[in-house]
Amino acid sequence: MRQCQGCDLYKTATQAVFGEGQRDAPLVLAGEQPGDAEDRQGRPFVGPAGHILDRALEDAGIDRKTVYVTNAVKHFKFEPRGKRRIHKKPSSVEISACRPWLEAELAVIRPAIVVCLGATAVQSLAGRGVRVLRDRGKLLESPFAKGLVVTVHPSALLRLPDHSQFEHEYSLFVRDLQAARKYAARLAA
Ligand code: URA
Repeated sequence: MRQCQGCDLYKTATQAVFGEGQRDAPLVLAGEQPGDAEDRQGRPFVGPAGHILDRALEDAGIDRKTVYVTNAVKHFKFEPRGKRRIHKKPSSVEISACRPWLEAELAVIRPAIVVCLGATAVQSLAGRGVRVLRDRGKLLESPFAKGLVVTVHPSALLRLPDHSQFEHEYSLFVRDLQAARKYAARLAA
């Protein structure tokens, strides 16, 4: 994967960022792509979105050390703006080019539940029939795991303008993660 040239994103990213966690994890969490911090550090979900994810996992009764965290796309896509690098959404071609890596991770781990964090992971693993807001928290079928759950991306919470909206959306996010934990316990048994 470190040598992957399946799309053009390798040209500008610092490095490919692979998933991280337990090989026998009952839960796999799939995000979109590494952000600025992840691109520099070479590890998934270590920046601001990762901090929210860590807190939500804890509030949902899930120990991050027991799960596997990864992304639909392994290279950071961004637009330079002055000294900053602004996140850009990966295209369908980039998502498809990277899917074999994600499928390979899931084939090794064979989790009870794969959780798609946001629309890009949904597009990669669940296809067009699944909608994040309509289907969040439900137990869905998947060829990649015993079940699939979709929820919002934690960085969507970071963009909310006021505290009460954040608290509300955060509690819904935690509720979806709790649902995933319960499905995983049931399906792994
Ligand atoms: N956003 C993601 O989707 N993944 C990361 O690893 C970091 C931010």
